[in-house]
Amino acid sequence: MKCMVMEDLIEEDQELIDEIEKGSVLDVGLVAAAQKVEHYEIAAYGNLCAIGKQLGVSDGVKLHNATLEEEKATDATLS
Ligand SMILES: [Fe+2]
Repeated sequence: MKCMVMEDLIEEDQELIDEIEKGSVLDVGLVAAAQKVEHYEIAAYGNLCAIGKQLGVSDGVKLHNATLEEEKATDATLS
């Protein structure tokens, strides 16, 4: 299933690249755009962990929690 939100975020990134000349302003815009993606992923994996806990699916929760921590680490790096 295609993720329409992610597709829109990528399209927004492309607009930045098309409209802003290379340099520090574009760099800041791309970092901010990447963080939007990370925040969306954090919400998605956080929800999966919560749902998995409610359902008692410990293997799934463990896997999604590991991915959630990776997303948080990437967000921190971008900050
Ligand atoms: Fe990510």
